[in-house]
Amino acid sequence: MSRADDGARATAAATTDAGDAARILVVDDERVIREILAEFLTLEGFSVHTVEDGEKALTELRIRPYDLLITDLKMPRLSGLQLLERITTERLGVLTVLMTGFGTVETAIEAMKKGAYDYLLKPFKVEEVIHVVRRALYRQRLQAENIRLREALTIYRVSEAIALSRDIDHVLDVVLHAAIDEVKADVATLHLHDQRSDSYQERVKVVASDDAPRGLPSPAFGTLLEQFAQGAPILAHGGKAGRYFTEDAAPAELSSFAAVPLHVRSHLVGVLNVFSFTPGKKFDEGHRKMLSVLASRAASAIDNARLMSELVESNTSLIRANSSLEEMFQQTIAGFAQALEESDLYTRGHSERVAVYSEILGRGLTLPDAEIRRIVQAGVMHDVGKIGVRYDMLNKPGKLTPEEVAVFRQHPEKGKRILDPVPCLHGLIDGCWCHHEWFDGGGYPRGLSGQSIPLVGRIVAIADAYDAMTSDRAYRRALPHEVAVGEIERCAGTQFDPELAEAFVRLIEAWRQGMRERGHDSLIPR
Ligand SMILES: [Fe+2]
Repeated sequence: MSRADDGARATAAATTDAGDAARILVVDDERVIREILAEFLTLEGFSVHTVEDGEKALTELRIRPYDLLITDLKMPRLSGLQLLERITTERLGVLTVLMTGFGTVETAIEAMKKGAYDYLLKPFKVEEVIHVVRRALYRQRLQAENIRLREALTIYRVSEAIALSRDIDHVLDVVLHAAIDEVKADVATLHLHDQRSDSYQERVKVVASDDAPRGLPSPAFGTLLEQFAQGAPILAHGGKAGRYFTEDAAPAELSSFAAVPLHVRSHLVGVLNVFSFTPGKKFDEGHRKMLSVLASRAASAIDNARLMSELVESNTSLIRANSSLEEMFQQTIAGFAQALEESDLYTRGHSERVAVYSEILGRGLTLPDAEIRRIVQAGVMHDVGKIGVRYDMLNKPGKLTPEEVAVFRQHPEKGKRILDPVPCLHGLIDGCWCHHEWFDGGGYPRGLSGQSIPLVGRIVAIADAYDAMTSDRAYRRALPHEVAVGEIERCAGTQFDPELAEAFVRLIEAWRQGMRERGHDSLIPR
């Protein structure tokens, strides 16, 4: 290599470091031409590298990407025209400008028909070279942007499919079709790692061409994985692809093969493979990179699907746990209600009916469902404190002594104490603790008044009183419905919340009417 070549390379490196200078490769067997071109193209801010023949140019193009190649037509070993052909067959993807003497203009024009972008006539003027180079680079940039746009569109299409679909097979199918479209493959397959067998199983296969053989040999995943681990690209043509297959031989008609890994959080979960069986149709490095992008989309689809199924699973077990909690909760309430009924003959059915009347009032007030559920449960549990009151006292036919009244009046407080240690029953405390409070403050145990009595307490108080009056008790027979309603109206504002009392009277009449119409007369108080 000449001193001039060294100098050009050094300047070129500096230009590259300084920014995104376009990379130009100059090929000429004449040292003077190489030196002149390198010098003034470098001065123009381009990153320039020079070589003296076509073979060296090919080697350089295979190692590093270049935006533009300026090559002489007549060179020993490999002519400019031959170089052009090799660039096309190897899909090296570089724009070419030919340099030619006056006598070979015809050849240059011929070369342009074969894909060269432009030509420069020797001896050339500096401005002319700059002009051609700039125009070529502009064209190259447009081309690159067009490719990038096309890739972006494909990736967008695939990403959209991933976002819209929860069906992993559908997403993988979209990814494979995009792979086929992008690299013009005849067959694409996607293998996923199976944890049980610790092997890679074919999950999706898309065949785009009738020429593709029916059966394909399985890729040799041991070799593929080894190469992925080393970061080496898997891209091979014809018989050279044999090492990537289990039978150590490529399919007979195989023209080209490429494989890219699917990584999910640094774990290799699968492999995307593309096959070309079209003669002369070979995948290149650009294709392989595009496939890598698609593979990463497929990997994120798999990851999403896995996260989704984990989410669904944990949600299901949460629902299961919740419903078993709810079941336990209902069983606990039923257990308490049962214990209570056994301690008081006359309250048999009372808790249930208070729950029903409380619900009628709650629904009539259009309270939220959750609140109504709590009110119904509180209705069932309101007298739970009576569990601690002596059986003989509760079922005493005559009047209670003042001491007995005092003991009896402890039941709301006792109810609170029974529920207090059970967190899931805390929502029912108000109903137990406050159903004997009076609206005017004359009730017990705390003498609360008006709105300071929790709503559930004021509701259960009315339901409790109505059922107590319309049921047989140890100390008296049941009172008729009209008498009970009259009593509630009379006590509105003193014992009961007047608005709730008014609503209850109205709602209970409507309920009775409905029950009669449905033939349930026996279930309503006389
Ligand atoms: Fe009570």
